[in-house]
Amino acid sequence: MTPAPGSSGGLMETRKRRHIDVCLGEAVEYQTVSTGFERYRLPYNALTQTDLGAIDLSGEFLGTRLRAPVLIGAMTGGAELSATINRNLAQAAQQLGIGMMLGSQRIMLDNDSASESFRVRDVAPDVLLIGNIGLAQLSASMAPALIDALDRVNANALAVHTNPLQEAMQHKGDTDFSGSIARLRDVAGTIGYPVMLKEVGHGIGAAAAAELADCPIAAVDVAGAGGTSWARVEQFVRFGEIRYPALAEWGIPTAQALLEVRRALPGVPLVASGGIRTGMDAAKALALGADVVSVARPLLAPAIESPAAVVDWLELFIDELLICLHGCGAADLTELREGGVTPL
Ligand SMILES: Cc1cc2nc3c(=O)[nH]c(=O)nc-3n(C[C@H](O)[C@H](O)[C@H](O)COP(=O)(O)O)c2cc1C
Repeated sequence: MTPAPGSSGGLMETRKRRHIDVCLGEAVEYQTVSTGFERYRLPYNALTQTDLGAIDLSGEFLGTRLRAPVLIGAMTGGAELSATINRNLAQAAQQLGIGMMLGSQRIMLDNDSASESFRVRDVAPDVLLIGNIGLAQLSASMAPALIDALDRVNANALAVHTNPLQEAMQHKGDTDFSGSIARLRDVAGTIGYPVMLKEVGHGIGAAAAAELADCPIAAVDVAGAGGTSWARVEQFVRFGEIRYPALAEWGIPTAQALLEVRRALPGVPLVASGGIRTGMDAAKALALGADVVSVARPLLAPAIESPAAVVDWLELFIDELLICLHGCGAADLTELREGGVTPL
C-alpha cells in the first residue's frame, strides 16, 4: 500500500525524495569548514618493506569481518528511488566485503509498504548491515516496533542518529531533545542489537562523548564537519536557498571530532565519517584512531546508476588506501595505527 500524499508516511516519502534531489543538485558541502585531515601528513617511507599485493586491510567491526575498513554511509529508504539505491549499494558492499548502513527506518514504523525499499539481505547475505533511527524520535515505547523493523531487514546492529541542528533547520523538525540521553541509554540497554550513535555531519565531540561514558553503546560514528552539511541540505529543501549561512557552516571538523571522542572513550569502536572522500583521508583517519571509515554522499549518484558504478568508486578509494599503507610501510591496519600521523 502506498501512503496517502498527506499522511505522515507520504510526507516523509516526499521529504526523502527532496533530500536525494538536493544532495544531487545543490552545493551541499561545507563551504568554509574542512575535515582537518589536511593538517596531518601520513609518514611516507621510501624504504618501505611491504609488498603492495600482500597488504591486509581486513578487520572486524561490530562482530562482522570486513575485507576493508569501510562502510557505506546511511542514506536512504522509503522513497521510490530508495529501493534502487539501497539494493545497488548492498550489492557493491557484498562484492567488496565491506559494511553498509541503511537510511532512517522511521518510515517503516508506520508504513508497511516502505519495508520493501530497505530489503537488501537477499543480495547482501554476508554484509555488516546497520539499521537506522533518529534519536529525536527514539523512545522505550517504540522499541518493539523498532526491533521488528530491524528483524525484518535482518540487520546486525542499529545506528541512532543525533541531529539537533538538522532538525532545527527542518520545517516542523523534531526539536525537543530533552531527555534524549536517558532514552538512548534505555533503548541501547534493552533492544538486543548493538547500538552505534552517529551524527549526520555536524560532529560528535568531547561534550557529547562525555555523556556516553556510562551508556551501553557499541560504537560511535563521529560524522563530523567538512563534507555534507545537513544544515545546508535542509535549508535548500525548505527555502530553496541558504538563509542562515553561519548555521550551515557549524560543526566539529571530522579530524577534531575523532580525536575528542577517542580521548573521551578510549575503548569504544569508532567510525570516522563526514567528508571522507579519498583513500588518503581514510588512511589518516585510521592512523588517528578510527576503526573504520564511512562515506555517504559521493556514493549517491553511483548508487542511482548501478552496483558496478558504486564498486568502481569504492575500488579506487580502497586502492588508494592500500597504496597509503604501502607507502608508509604498514603491512596491515595495526601497523598503520602504530605509525600514526605527522601534524603539519
Ligand atoms: C541522501 C542522504 C540521505 C541521508 N540520510 C540519512 C539517514 O536517513 N540517517 C542518517 O543517520 N544519516 C543520513 N545521512 C547522513 C550520512 O549518513 C552522513 O552522516 C553525512 O552525509 C556525512 O557524510 P558525507 O560527508 O560522506 O556525506 C544521509 C546522507 C545523504 C547524502
